[in-house]
Amino acid sequence: AGLSEARRSGIGFASIPVSTADTVSVPAGYTTQVIAAWGEPVGLAGAMPAWRDDGGHSAAEQAAQMGMHHDGIHYFALDGSQRGLLVMNHEYTDDGLLHADGMKTWSAEKVAKAQAAHGVAVIEVQLQDGRWQHVRPSRHARRITASTPMQLGGPAAGHALMKTAADPDGRRVLGTFNNCGSGITPWGTYLTCEENFIGYFHGPERPDAHGRRWGLKKDGSGYRWHEHDERFDATRHPNEPNRHGWVVEIDPLDPASTPIKRTALGRAAHEGATVALTKDGRAVVYSGEDARFEYIYKFVSRDAVKPGGAKANAELLDHGTLYVARFDADGSGRWLPLRHGEGPLTAANGFADQGEVLIKSRQASGLLGATKMDRPEWIAIDTASRDVYCTLTNNTNRGADKQPAIDPANPRSDNTMGHIIRWRDDGDFDGTGLRWSHFVLAGDTQNARADAKGNINGDAFGCPDGLWIDGRGVMWIQTDMSTSAMGKGDLAKLGNNVMLAADPATGAIRRFLSGPSGCEVTGVTATPDGKTLFVNIQHPGESPSERSDPAAPTKFSRWPDGGRPRSATVVVRRVDGGVVGT
Ligand code: FEO
Ligand code: CA
Ligand code: CA
Ligand code: CA
Repeated sequence: AGLSEARRSGIGFASIPVSTADTVSVPAGYTTQVIAAWGEPVGLAGAMPAWRDDGGHSAAEQAAQMGMHHDGIHYFALDGSQRGLLVMNHEYTDDGLLHADGMKTWSAEKVAKAQAAHGVAVIEVQLQDGRWQHVRPSRHARRITASTPMQLGGPAAGHALMKTAADPDGRRVLGTFNNCGSGITPWGTYLTCEENFIGYFHGPERPDAHGRRWGLKKDGSGYRWHEHDERFDATRHPNEPNRHGWVVEIDPLDPASTPIKRTALGRAAHEGATVALTKDGRAVVYSGEDARFEYIYKFVSRDAVKPGGAKANAELLDHGTLYVARFDADGSGRWLPLRHGEGPLTAANGFADQGEVLIKSRQASGLLGATKMDRPEWIAIDTASRDVYCTLTNNTNRGADKQPAIDPANPRSDNTMGHIIRWRDDGDFDGTGLRWSHFVLAGDTQNARADAKGNINGDAFGCPDGLWIDGRGVMWIQTDMSTSAMGKGDLAKLGNNVMLAADPATGAIRRFLSGPSGCEVTGVTATPDGKTLFVNIQHPGESPSERSDPAAPTKFSRWPDGGRPRSATVVVRRVDGGVVGT
């Protein structure tokens, strides 16, 4: 009864203050509990290596444990709100923290361990006497890593640009990594999104135009995988990067299932993937690309969802149309189709076929005149109003020398604070026209700089990233102020990263949870009764300037248990057992 009674009754807790403490804070009347921290065994029968605080786990042990850097998460009910699966992303690794001596030495074993700490975890959890237990062993427990075999589906599967020496058919890929936001489908599967994949590849001194457009660099982001795994040497395997940057569909209820990369949804630094249904039952997948001046996409399936779960809809995301968004000055906008042979998307412009359009979706979107956004992150849908919301986390390059100027949808130069845009597609979710407005410009009224004050109806915040609208219609906003910018400049008075609750109807925004030092708050899901919230805390203690030093993060954080700082899932409940947020 709780949920229907409380539905759309807004937010009813007292805001918490800004915090710089190395702890999780929540409003009075709430409790927290930490589960599933990095290194805890996931619960594979016969392989449950216990956490050790010295960084001494082997690669094989890490492959049976929670990965690093928790991100997108979803609760799949097995027994209502009492027992379920938590499926979550492990975005990337801090190799200083991952290994006993950090990156002082480098080896094939360390690369294998880093790859095993990436990907996705599936764990079983159950509620007992008001506390959530991680059920171990569980027949559902699973780790998917940067080496797990996967299939390619959709128009780019088997494409010449997807073929490698190890996979001459271009249909079988190893692994997923930099899994950031996530999504779920109405047929019960989990979508994990490959965000900053290009940073794992070692590129040539002078990459070609395609490599440059996707940010391929000689040293990547410093993961050094190519030194012991030649697949990541793009000078030798130039097509391998094309096989990443996709949305991957996973059936969490079948631990033996093969994850499938859905190429029809386009290649991008996908932040997340959020699914709506049209009135006639077709799936619409919204996805932003978190990179400066990149785009917002939506995919509309050709076919309607069939009853029968994952098996019955095994190819639903392989057929349909991909669109990219253009936001116009008069508050209207267009969804521009990425359809081979239409407009500029021709062989003469370098697109041999639909597969190439999808592999080169950035290049295609640029030719179509899509709007260059301020780093689109998560997307959330208010099913009651049909409004779609997207966080634009920040873009300090906006308006800088030789960079795109402000535009109506991205209205602030040196956008340190970020904003949330919203739109409603004409007619139905598959509409090709839209009307848009800004839900909020983030900021802090204590700032002197006009563009950093924002227009929040409530508590100050900056850099919105995670976004989710719960079953009552409450919007949860999670922030990702980068560690290098936190506590300084326009972010000086905002403390640690937080999660806020917003009422889409009134625009009221209140601070609900503050994370420990140096963390990002990212990924949130609830039980169907709304009484338990699972919130992910990523990279507590992050120290970007000292990434290879195993001691550095512990100077900033000892969360959650006094040892090495560890990403983990925080369980939030009301002391009186009521619906969270009311
Ligand atoms: Fe992985 Fe856009 O945050
Ligand atoms: Ca994110
Ligand atoms: Ca972010
Ligand atoms: Ca992150």
